[in-house]
Parts: sequence; C-alpha cells; structure tokens
Amino acid sequence: MIRLAIQKSGRLSEDSLNLIRECGISFINSSLKLKTEATNFPLEILFLRDDDIPGYVADGVADIGIVGENVLVEEGKQQLSIQKLGFSKCRLSIAVPKAAEYRNIQDLQDKNLATSYPNLLQAYLDEQGVKAHIHTISGSVEIAPSIGLADAICDIVSSGSTLISNGLREVESVFRSEAVLISNQELSAEKTRILNQLVFRIQSVRKAQK
Ligand code: PRP
Ligand code: ZN
Ligand code: MG
Repeated sequence: MIRLAIQKSGRLSEDSLNLIRECGISFINSSLKLKTEATNFPLEILFLRDDDIPGYVADGVADIGIVGENVLVEEGKQQLSIQKLGFSKCRLSIAVPKAAEYRNIQDLQDKNLATSYPNLLQAYLDEQGVKAHIHTISGSVEIAPSIGLADAICDIVSSGSTLISNGLREVESVFRSEAVLISNQELSAEKTRILNQLVFRIQSVRKAQK
C-alpha cells in the first residue's frame, strides 16, 4: 500500500482527484473524511493543506504527493519532484493597487511587500537588485494593501479574478508553476513498484489527453 497526499480544498484538489480517477482507481470520497482507501489499487489518499505536503513527503508521513511547484520550490524541496502533471497552471506575481504609479521593479525599492512566498520573492528581488521589506503572511494576502499592511503583494494568480476583486493590478511575474507528483526518496521496493505502476498510468492518461 502506498500513501498519497493531495490538497484538501483549493485549486489542486479537484484536478488531483480527477487524475486518480482517470488512472482507473476507485475510492469513496466524503468531503469530511481526511483519509480514504482505494478499492481497486493499493493506495491510501490523505487530504492535507498543500503547504504541508512537501514536508510530509520528505519525512515519509506520506510516500507520495501532488502539489504545486510554487509550494515545492518555496520550501526548497525540488529534489522530491518526479513528474510534472500539466494542470493547475498558475504564476506567482507581484501586484500593486490599481491606481498606484508603477513603471518598473525599481519602484519597489524600500517598499513593503506582503507574501506567503518569502523565499521565491526574495530570490527574485535579489536577482533584480531591489531591496524591499518582505512581510510573510499565510493567507488573504490580497487584502494587505487595502488595510495598509503593504504597498504591494506577491501571490499566486490563476484566472486573475482574486486580484481584480481586490483592486489590484499584476505588474511582475516571478515564477511559473504547475502541479507535480512528488515522492519520498527512500521508498521500499514494494512501494517503488506501486509508484511505478501509478506513474505508468498517469503517463498513459496524459498521452491520451494530448
Ligand atoms: C491562490 C491565491 C488566490 C487564488 C488566486 O491561492 O492565493 O487565493 O489562488 O486565483 P485566481 O487568480 O484564479 O483568483 P491557492 O489556490 O494557492 O490556495 P492557498 O493560498 O489557500 O494555498
Ligand atoms: Zn496553500
Ligand atoms: Mg490563496
């Protein structure tokens, strides 16, 4: 039996479950249960916060997981990645209030930026030679400018509707991301065999979609 961690609720959840179903794996999914077992494949599914998934997989609490590259790279765990999945594509972007004057990245010098991705943002600012104050917050980043917490934000943009609803305008794209399958690096021979079967099915599903 192999343990797969996926996002409990959010942008990746539905696509992750669909991928498993398209692999011909059946399971009962109740939105209140945080753990379920497949009925026709040696797989247990754990429903977790996406941010916790790389850590759990690195520690072996889960054997494998589906997570956005944004979270994986932010946590410095790229080495766990085994296969890009092609869904939940998004970008990590810097946004400013709609009416704010903004010409280029130098305008952020000495400004306050709110984000849940301090490492990715810091690397980008360093590369651009800009020094700014980064305030790390774990959610609702998009309201930071309107409550006076920050001059700009750096967060995930997918459709762009969250930015628009909060009166923000995207000005820089920091990182591009999609869902990836990740794996613990010390799987037993038995689990490796199950993982290989799963990866084979995923690749077949993806080929059929192209
Ligand atoms: C991101 C971001 C916004 C939303 C933007 O959250 O923080 O909430 O997606 O999407 P939109 O451009 O389509 O409006 P994410 O799904 O990464 O979830 P989390 O912040 O709860 O982890
Ligand atoms: Zn998250
Ligand atoms: Mg969010």
